[in-house]
Amino acid sequence: MNLILSQWTKLQEAITRSCSRSHHNPGNVQVVAVTKNRSLQEIQELYHLGQRHFGENRPQALLERIAEFPESYWHLIGPLQKNKVSKIVGKTYLIHSVDSLELGQKLAACGDFSLLLQVNLSGEATKQGLSAHDADVVYEQLLKFPQLKILGLMTMAPRFDGTNESEKSIRSTYSKTRELLVKLQKKYATPQFRELSMGMSKDFEWAIEEGATIIRVGSYLFNGPSTVEK
Ligand SMILES: Cc1ncc(COP(=O)(O)O)c(C=O)c1O
Repeated sequence: MNLILSQWTKLQEAITRSCSRSHHNPGNVQVVAVTKNRSLQEIQELYHLGQRHFGENRPQALLERIAEFPESYWHLIGPLQKNKVSKIVGKTYLIHSVDSLELGQKLAACGDFSLLLQVNLSGEATKQGLSAHDADVVYEQLLKFPQLKILGLMTMAPRFDGTNESEKSIRSTYSKTRELLVKLQKKYATPQFRELSMGMSKDFEWAIEEGATIIRVGSYLFNGPSTVEK
């Protein structure tokens, strides 16, 4: 079996196991395969296996990929500058990384978009994302724009370093994100605000256990079993 096929199969099995541990439905967990720096052939292999949701970090790379795989669903998962917004109108399936009111307003001014608000509840100052308080303020303001479908939250956890402490802080970041989603959904009576994009190659099983509905997986699929970088 080739590497991508065997990793893709392992990923499906791991998702099923995490879902059964945490009583979630595997049908409610969408895998976004992160294709950053991957070859056309690698992406084609995944496509042939039935993978249709893909993610890129940068708008320019995203546009190039969309031209190569126009029938797939393309997610922008990395930072978006306001001056790039007009280039991606009508191109993205979902933008995961809206982290300011100004960016949301710019998107609303340029077209129709589905998006997630990126939050940073990890306590790491270096990570992108809104605080819980600011996410509430920004969500309330952006709800005024019918051209924006605001579908939930995205977050990035601290990097796993192999310790129990690290696992705990990753899980805590994810559970806080879920709690914030539920709080905002109730406060604004918006049942469609239900997606949680959280979990990457090294921690997607914990993310699913904490309620992820979208996981963003790159190296696990393309490089083989994840290794812990210390
Ligand atoms: C925002 C984001 N999510 C997910 C990933 C995928 O990470 P990994 O290769 O650890 O699965 C990346 C990698 O570039 C990323 O930037």
